[in-house]
Formats: sequence, C-alpha cells, structure tokens
Amino acid sequence: MSKFYKNLFYKSNKIIRSLLPKFIKQKLQSPPIGQIDFGDLRRLKPIDPHFGFSRGQVIDRYYIEIFLNKHASDIKGRVLEIGDNKYTKLFGGNRVVCSDVLNYTSGNPISTIVGDLTKADHIESNIFDCIILTQTLQMIYDYRLALKHLYRILKPGGILLSTSHGTSKLDRILGVDAWGEYWRFTGQSSKLLFEEFFKPGNVQTTSYGNVLSAISYLHGLASQDLTHDELDFNDPKFEVLVGVRAIK
Ligand SMILES: C[S@@+](CC[C@H](N)C(=O)[O-])C[C@H]1O[C@@H](n2cnc3c(N)ncnc32)[C@H](O)[C@@H]1O
Repeated sequence: MSKFYKNLFYKSNKIIRSLLPKFIKQKLQSPPIGQIDFGDLRRLKPIDPHFGFSRGQVIDRYYIEIFLNKHASDIKGRVLEIGDNKYTKLFGGNRVVCSDVLNYTSGNPISTIVGDLTKADHIESNIFDCIILTQTLQMIYDYRLALKHLYRILKPGGILLSTSHGTSKLDRILGVDAWGEYWRFTGQSSKLLFEEFFKPGNVQTTSYGNVLSAISYLHGLASQDLTHDELDFNDPKFEVLVGVRAIK
C-alpha cells in the first residue's frame, strides 16, 4: 500500500474512532473476552501471601506514610500510637514530648498503656495532643465505643490521625489471632462515622489507590513493583487506604 494511502487509512481510522461513542471506544480498547493477558497474576494464590513484606514496602504502608507525612505537623506534644511508635518517631521527631504506646494485650515491652480501646475507662480524659491510629479501627468490632474513648482521651484541639484498609486481603482471624478483622470502611462511611463524634467541619478524609495498586496489593506485590506515577494515580472508586484527620 503506497505511503499516501497508508497515511490516508490511519488518518481516517483515527477520525472514525474519535467519532465513535465512548462505550464502543472502550470496547475496542479492551482485550477480547477470554483473552486477557494476566501474565504473572494468573494464579489462585497471591504472589506474596504476606502483603508483599518479602518483596519490599507493603503498598498500604506507602499510602500510610504519604498520609502521615502530609499531617506530620499534627504529631506533637503527647502522642499515642497503637502497638508500636514507629510513626510517632518517623513523623513527629523532636516535636514529640511524650510518646505513649497502647497495646491490646500485655507483654509488649514498649507499651506504656495496656487495654482494649472499647473498655478504656482506665485511660485519663483530655491527655493526648495526637493519636496515631493506623490499621486498627477495622480490627475493633465495636468501633463506635473505641471512637468514643479516643475522642475522650484527646485534649481539646487534639488530633486523631486514623488509617484503615479499603481493598485488602483479610489478615486476622479471631481465635487464631488475639483480635479479629471485622470492617472495611469507605471514605464516605469514615466521614459519617467520625462526624458522629467530631464536629463535621473538623473531619477530613483522604483516600488513596487505583485499580492497579489495588490488584497489586491483593497479590502481595510491593510498592517497588510499581512506579510512583502508578501508585500515586488516585481513583476514588478504588480505595486501597482511607485516611481520616479529625480535630477534637
Ligand atoms: C494491624 S495492627 C496495627 C498496628 C500498628 N498501628 C500498625 O500500623 O502497624 C492492629 C492493632 O490493633 C490492636 N487492637 C486490636 N483490637 C484492639 C482493641 N479492641 N483495642 C485496642 N487495640 C486493639 C492490636 O493489638 C494491633 O496492635
């Protein structure tokens, strides 16, 4: 075919395609049914069953660190974190005067408080400037009772920074583990839920993720398996992580 007709063909093809309705365009772009190239992803078990720990940084942690970094200036004064205080140290630095660690069960050498957040009357009211609650609320069946105590133990003006899973594999089984895994909150449910305790104007939610990072997270791929552009592309319909910042 001469160069002239080839160009004419491609140009007219492009014009015709541009005139096609969106759904037809999409159909033309999507692979034929039954012929998806899944590559390494075509398997019934995840590539890494441990969230990608063996491959590098777990994808939800990538998003957690973006969220906490964005709100690092809130992490100051007396700070409470759950299970450990890695984020208090990482993002609070020398703004932190006192770092407390609450652990659900006794025996954690770094914990300064032991207890169930749903039964936390033993923790004084109005004592924390900031509470870092990462990947915890979804593990608490009676999350409203926990939020009631979290609100109570914050100082007026104190800030709760909470993250929870959107799309994720289940990790904890009650009876096998000390605690279970009960909920998946969306950005929408998180906002309404936190507004039951904090003034509506004082609650801000941010979601992170897209279809590729969601699939990658489910397969236990690490953030190093994707580019930053791929990780940072935000599609609110595919929430891998939901972050909430709430001011008392
Ligand atoms: C997935 S871990 C998250 C730990 C840590 N914050 C992080 O981001 O890696 C869930 C934490 O929730 C705690 N937890 C579960 N149920 C709890 C409850 N009712 N009250 C207080 N902590 C609880 C567990 O002890 C555990 O430390």
